Amino acid sequence: MEGITTFIYRNIYDRYYGNIDKYYTPFVTAKKLKGRELNEVMPEHNEGLNVVPQILTNNAETFIEITKQLENMGYTEVNFNLGCPSGTVVNKHRGAGFLSVPDDLKYFLDEIFNECNIDISIKTRLGVNNLDDWPEILKIYSEYDIKELIIHARLLSEGYGGYVHTDMFNLAKDILSCPLCYNGDITDEKSFEKIYKECDSPDAIMIGRGAIANPELSYSLKSFYLNNNTFNTDSDNVNYSNGNIDNIIFENKKGKKSDNQVIFKEFHNELYIAYKEYMSGEVPVLFKMKELWNYWSNSGNFPNNEKLLKKIRKSKNLREYESIVTTIFN
Ligand SMILES: Cc1cc2nc3c(=O)[nH]c(=O)nc-3n(C[C@H](O)[C@H](O)[C@H](O)COP(=O)(O)O)c2cc1C
Repeated sequence: MEGITTFIYRNIYDRYYGNIDKYYTPFVTAKKLKGRELNEVMPEHNEGLNVVPQILTNNAETFIEITKQLENMGYTEVNFNLGCPSGTVVNKHRGAGFLSVPDDLKYFLDEIFNECNIDISIKTRLGVNNLDDWPEILKIYSEYDIKELIIHARLLSEGYGGYVHTDMFNLAKDILSCPLCYNGDITDEKSFEKIYKECDSPDAIMIGRGAIANPELSYSLKSFYLNNNTFNTDSDNVNYSNGNIDNIIFENKKGKKSDNQVIFKEFHNELYIAYKEYMSGEVPVLFKMKELWNYWSNSGNFPNNEKLLKKIRKSKNLREYESIVTTIFN
């Protein structure tokens, strides 16, 4: 997630919580990887993690060039972003905006699938503003050897809110033979169970905001999945998020459930120190931490701290921030 799941976040998250089979980087766009984008994908910054870099562009040459650099770094898969709804991206027919020009999209996909040597997976929305376009988009995808299709089950026009169209996910099953990963609004065991059933056991699930708000989510969903008889774990279709069932870790990495608050405090502190070391100046660090608290404070994990959470949002410097956070954790 752009601005949130940085390589710093990813590494520290994995050490404290983990239970994620595959991480996707925020999208990169520049033909020659450098600066922030290079930092995200550098193998030295992703050691021991299964990471798939994501590319956002509508220029096949740029995609192919970036893919070559990633291949040289040792990556075997890249992900193509057809889901971003941001105005500046969509206006240029990139991200989900690329879905509005299907002929250009076909030409682009022809080029990249012909030229790239490594696997290409796609993250898509269902269309721009009309669900009737989805079958046509699926027909386009069916012509390519897509490693995996991740479906954020919303239209571009629906942004990040409203209902997810699980029926449209199922339509993809009828048309495509590649593995399908469901994405959208999985925030707890209840939503996971409902969506998993509605989507008739998807090959994998991707979680975004839910896992930021509640870092324990990956652990709790895996335990729930494996310990709940309503999931058909006897069948061949048991792989969860493309992972090997034997490798699933039953505990979060730093301890057991009862230590939740202590683990979160340590996780927060390590993140905070890392951002202070990595970023220059107080303001960007404060901004980064506030962005994270926007998610954490909506998770229900801090029920009696509303006033303090408000104070975090209003804090003007790191001294103020530290004092409020200390009160929350004590
Ligand atoms: C702030 C923000 C940044 C995001 N950045 C990306 C991104 O770089 N690449 C991507 O594929 N999706 C990105 N997404 C979309 C999420 O990956 C995900 O598809 C979406 O939030 C729906 O899933 P969720 O309900 O589990 O969060 C972003 C979402 C948000 C809110």
